[in-house]
Amino acid sequence: MTATPPAPLLSAQALKVAFPGRRGAATARAVDGVDLDIHPGEIVALVGESGCGKTTLARSLLGLVPPTEGRVTFGGEPLDYGGRALKAYRKRVQLVLQDPSGSLNPRHTVYDAVAEGLRIHGYAGDERAAVSGALARAGLRPPERFFLRYPHELSGGQRQRVVIAGALVLEPELIVADEPVASLDASVRGEILALLLRLRDELGLSALVVTHDLGLAWNIADRVAVMYLGRIVETGDVEQILTAPRHPYTRALLSVLPEADGEPVILTGEPPDPSKVPSGCRFHARCQVLASGEAERAGVADACRTKDLPVLEGGGRTQVACHWAAARASAGSAATGAGAGSSPAEAGTGS
Ligand SMILES: Nc1ncnc2c1ncn2[C@@H]1O[C@H](COP(=O)(O)OP(=O)(O)O)[C@@H](O)[C@H]1O
Ligand code: SF4
Ligand SMILES: [Mg+2]
Repeated sequence: MTATPPAPLLSAQALKVAFPGRRGAATARAVDGVDLDIHPGEIVALVGESGCGKTTLARSLLGLVPPTEGRVTFGGEPLDYGGRALKAYRKRVQLVLQDPSGSLNPRHTVYDAVAEGLRIHGYAGDERAAVSGALARAGLRPPERFFLRYPHELSGGQRQRVVIAGALVLEPELIVADEPVASLDASVRGEILALLLRLRDELGLSALVVTHDLGLAWNIADRVAVMYLGRIVETGDVEQILTAPRHPYTRALLSVLPEADGEPVILTGEPPDPSKVPSGCRFHARCQVLASGEAERAGVADACRTKDLPVLEGGGRTQVACHWAAARASAGSAATGAGAGSSPAEAGTGS
């Protein structure tokens, strides 16, 4: 085993964010009990279908949405969702938005777009040098050539680099990138992902990269957290999750990637609706392992339908929240005579 990991930089603890339903509709439990740690210099990919609560979780980590329950800590200190402390925090943790054309003002030059954060935070240093440095770090060189350009004069990839420069200019410790390449062509995607990796290596920058594309996580993340209907259902090292996924949801997401072997698992049933969280395992109505009778054969079908699964821990350990995966792991360790502690953490007990 590796040594004890360093203390997390950013941490969500039992985090919940609920939105009240309109006109008597049920409450939407967009984030419904999440523990998630991001360590210094680590890139964590938060993966799941659209509507799983990824953006709401990211916004709550950024201090943009106060949690209904639970808390967020940064450097061990609880996040204060009001006032000056929040402003200082928003300097250290920067958001990179998904659609660069939407997040850049078409009437602002590149220089003004990048300098905006410095001005908001009352930066007292050399603004021109800071803007120039941030553009160069984001790969726009020579930076002066871009100062007076407008967003419409740039390619999609260059616009995304301007957005990244706008985040870097404040020298954050962590960036949260929400679908950073979703609107880009495949050829440019790789360049932007390579840039994020370089920033981690050269600046020790940590990142939470939110994506609906598990294939993207493969290229960039150290660790993956798979989210379904407001919860993390599987988490661990990228290698482990992508080569040996254990949650049926992770398996389904992986099976439809172009590089996957075997038959794709098409997710059936309704997409996630956080105002209607099912009983038992929240994925059960769409689970191919339950539908095919495999869960029944493993003796867990009743648990799948009725027994809730606990919140996974936020740290680096490989964990899965699935009755069937837990049953398989304990059958495997019984067969090999290994102690329960030697298998990756399971979470097959109810809460
Ligand atoms: N401000 C809001 N008010 C009500 N419901 C919301 C709000 N923001 C998000 N939701 C709901 O929360 C769920 C999760 O949304 P979101 O966090 O955007 O998911 P993702 O980023 O994974 O697509 C969705 O069902 C969405 O409709
Ligand atoms: S707990 Fe049961 S229903 Fe849920 S993912 Fe696992 S096998 Fe499927
Ligand atoms: Mg989103």
